Amino acid sequence: MKYFIVTYGCQMNVHESEKLAGILENIGYQPCEKREEADIIVFNTCAIREGAEDRVFGNVGNLKKLKKKNKNLIIAVCGCMTQKEDSAQKLLNTFPFVDIVLGTFNMTKLGYFIEAVKKGRQIEILDEGEIDEVLPYKRTSGDNAWVNIMQGCNNFCTYCIVPYVKGREKSRKEENILKEIKEILKEGKYKKITLLGQNVNSYGKDLNPEVSFSKLLKDICALDGDFTLSFMTSHPKDLTDDVIDTIAKEDKIEKYIHLPAQSGNNRILKLMNRKYTREKYLEIINKIRAKIPNCRITSDFIVGFPSETEEEFNDTLSLVEQVKYDSIFAFMFSSRSGTVAEKMDGQIPESEKKRRVNKLLALEKRLQKEANK
Ligand code: SAH
Ligand code: SF4
Ligand code: F3S
Repeated sequence: MKYFIVTYGCQMNVHESEKLAGILENIGYQPCEKREEADIIVFNTCAIREGAEDRVFGNVGNLKKLKKKNKNLIIAVCGCMTQKEDSAQKLLNTFPFVDIVLGTFNMTKLGYFIEAVKKGRQIEILDEGEIDEVLPYKRTSGDNAWVNIMQGCNNFCTYCIVPYVKGREKSRKEENILKEIKEILKEGKYKKITLLGQNVNSYGKDLNPEVSFSKLLKDICALDGDFTLSFMTSHPKDLTDDVIDTIAKEDKIEKYIHLPAQSGNNRILKLMNRKYTREKYLEIINKIRAKIPNCRITSDFIVGFPSETEEEFNDTLSLVEQVKYDSIFAFMFSSRSGTVAEKMDGQIPESEKKRRVNKLLALEKRLQKEANK
């Protein structure tokens, strides 16, 4: 029996797919190169922007023919998109040939649902769930091993669907994280460990007793072995001096911080509920640059947030120009149902968002060219 997994979205999803692969291999499935050869095709979806969802609809739709040819083919859709009510409904209605629909909190039950599918279509989407602690992962990222340290988000940035589809922040126990990393290092195949979380800086705040992210970093660095430690993503409001000092001091930690700013304008940052100002953000950047020479810094930006004026967009351009990032990701605001920003006045037309994103990307290109020179 063969499986094929299609993954959309962030690194966290890439890692979740490694979990799905582990589960499938445990029950006797083998990977295959082409969807045509598969007995089961799993879509691990993303809901962050409309474009991500559109790709899932296009690709699942394309399987209709395959399913006609092979009646025994199982098609499963799981991940963030299924937790978003309108998207899940649309999926279920448009694609009657999808056999299994699972949410983000119960993916590990895939094996059980494959068994049950003989009885008909299986759907289970839960509102919350515990964070998985011990699992077989089929690691697929070369000499980099992803390690999930937490899941969910409490920040509710007004544009973002993640808190709704991934639930509240839940941290894994430190001892379990350390145990997993020791096992990874023992295998001898991995040179890099990358810690994953929607907001790694708030790691451990929900544990009893609390564990800080900087303690976790130090404890991992103290493990024997020759490896580089990296992590993503940091929210600027929670990046403490302690974490910056730890990155500076520990040789094993990669000198790299992805620190999404989203906007360079204070009114927009407030509307986004980011809980920092441009000035505060720049203060953190200066601190990083002072304490960690040659630290690579990258960022995410959203253009065309509801009511963003040309002047406010210019503040984003000037922030990018000022910080001189190593690289940036620029996104056009995508309205997500159920979020606060969806209902805000002053939605910006698509053509204007496109113009702004192109302008931001052109600036980024110019700055990179200058830096490369
Ligand atoms: N937890 C991370 C971000 C995860 S989502 C953080 O807070 O930094 C990755 C990026 O997608 C975000 O940084 C943001 O720039 C972008 N994004 C999220 N929601 C979006 C939306 N509705 N429209 C456009 N871009 C969005
Ligand atoms: Fe989304 Fe904000 Fe949480 Fe990041 S911090 S996942 S952007 S709500
Ligand atoms: Fe997408 Fe879910 Fe990641 S919405 S960006 S796959 S957490």
